[in-house]
Amino acid sequence: MLEVGCGDRGGVVPALVDAGYDAIGVDPRAPSGERFRQTDFREVDGEFDAVVAGRVVHHLDPLGEAVDRLASLAPLLIVDEFAWDLIDPELQAWYEAEYRVRPDASGPPTVDEWRWRHPGLHPHDVLLEALRARYDERVLEWVPYFHHWLGDVESPDRIGYRWAGVRTSTTRTSASSR
Ligand SMILES: C[S@@+](CC[C@H](N)C(=O)[O-])C[C@H]1O[C@@H](n2cnc3c(N)ncnc32)[C@H](O)[C@@H]1O
Repeated sequence: MLEVGCGDRGGVVPALVDAGYDAIGVDPRAPSGERFRQTDFREVDGEFDAVVAGRVVHHLDPLGEAVDRLASLAPLLIVDEFAWDLIDPELQAWYEAEYRVRPDASGPPTVDEWRWRHPGLHPHDVLLEALRARYDERVLEWVPYFHHWLGDVESPDRIGYRWAGVRTSTTRTSASSR
């Protein structure tokens, strides 16, 4: 398995290896070690059984080319994503109030500050459309997200989503001809 955008802590690679998978992670910020490559995923060659990407795809630009490249690497794609565009004023107020009483929170103090620092992210409907154009959707599950920013918390949000898809035969044909 290939984890794309495993971050500087190695993402889910250690858990995959513990579970018996042969896994590597790629990210310019990846940690050192034989299971990690400190590079852009577009530099990776080879064919994997599956690609997993956590909180990465909404950053990739241009999106269509990036998803084509993911599809060329493996027939199965599993993503853990974040519909940042679904943060409404009520949820924003809830998050910011929680942030103020949680000194260990790792997220931004305000959502507006976070929006300002992250221009150009893909909204969830654009991202899902790009995925569905290349894969047959098998799983779409909406889950809480703000625990990533706040730590151990029961969050009312459902702006996280887990998605899995299998590359379509048309996508496979065009990916293998590259
Ligand atoms: C929000 S972080 C998520 C890190 C980790 N997956 C997690 O969930 O904690 C997004 C990561 O994607 C990585 N990334 C962005 N574009 C990438 C690319 N083209 N190739 C590899 N990694 C990329 C960034 O360096 C960053 O570490």
